[in-house]
Amino acid sequence: MVKARLVGTGSFVPKKVLTNLDLEKMVETSDAWISARTGIRERRIATKDSTSEMAAKAGKAALKAAGVAPKDIDLIVVGTVTPDMTFPSSACFVQSHLGVRSGAAAFDVSAACSGFLYALDVANKYITSGAARKALVIGADRFSRLVDWNDRATCVLFGDGAGAVVLSAEKGGHGVLSCRVHSDGKHWEMLYADSPCPPSPFESRAPRSPYLKMNGNETFKLAVRTMGSAINEVMEETGLKPEDISLLIPHQANLRIINAARERLKLPEDKVFTNLDKYGNTSAGSIPIALDEAVRLGRVKNNDIILFVSFGGGLTWASAAVRW
Ligand code: ACO
Repeated sequence: MVKARLVGTGSFVPKKVLTNLDLEKMVETSDAWISARTGIRERRIATKDSTSEMAAKAGKAALKAAGVAPKDIDLIVVGTVTPDMTFPSSACFVQSHLGVRSGAAAFDVSAACSGFLYALDVANKYITSGAARKALVIGADRFSRLVDWNDRATCVLFGDGAGAVVLSAEKGGHGVLSCRVHSDGKHWEMLYADSPCPPSPFESRAPRSPYLKMNGNETFKLAVRTMGSAINEVMEETGLKPEDISLLIPHQANLRIINAARERLKLPEDKVFTNLDKYGNTSAGSIPIALDEAVRLGRVKNNDIILFVSFGGGLTWASAAVRW
């Protein structure tokens, strides 16, 4: 049976570093509060790269790592909620930036911080159904454009960046073993950002603020619950036991949320990959940036079982298990 094997990873984060100490000068906060409540110490901020440019740089690195030429890509799926434009999609821009052949399919998926795993799920289904042989799957977001830099409750949490993987159709036991995505729209007000479109002259509602709004405490509780159930789901589907897991790469939102998921699985700390201290929550970029870093650090080896889990605005949540 054909599986979607992850054959290359790449990532890109902008150069500009914004530390907790920098934030102390912008809003009433402290390095001590941010570090203790979230685990974040600094984040990267895009000053010139758009979401699609960051996505393309991550994609280019992933293609290089995979040894795959842009002309061989059949499908580009970008998970993002901060596209450069309302349309065309970020994926179409990536296609153009990378010189992926005319006629390949390219589209975005909108699932906030679960965007990468949603994109992986779609691409996995294209590959296992035979509709594509090689796919570029990217998670990219530029939340520095969405957050209100006067709101200390949210601006300390996010950063910008992109990560990518190349999937290739292969027979054998390597690749995506299970991928599950879920949503519950009744929780949409937990976390949202209104449309950047100009108001219609026919609009009868008062315009909402375009900035990200979040109910942090409720999001926290739902994140712990949904990440736990998402992990259980792929473990049950694949028959994997906690001792089979080589590495858990969770969405990098808050160290306390990650620790709750880890305790649920009874995994030792060294089996959970975190880099949110350096990048904060990069939304759809978070899991593929962490995966790429883990690969480069030699933390991911042939035959390893890697588990991914995420939650985000929607509310959305997702999980995946892959054999490397
Ligand atoms: N600096 C200092 N104090 C602050 C800050 C700050 N940056 N932000 C809030 N506080 C204050 C609050 O005003 C509050 O003060 P009060 O007690 O006087 O009212 C106090 O700190 C405690 O606030 P809480 O909100 O209860 O703090 P909590 O421990 O819950 O941490 C946090 C807040 C970090 C936002 C947490 O709730 C969280 O991580 N939630 C999940 C958010 C998340 O993951 N969002 C991303 C979702 S993914 C996506 O799709 C984008």
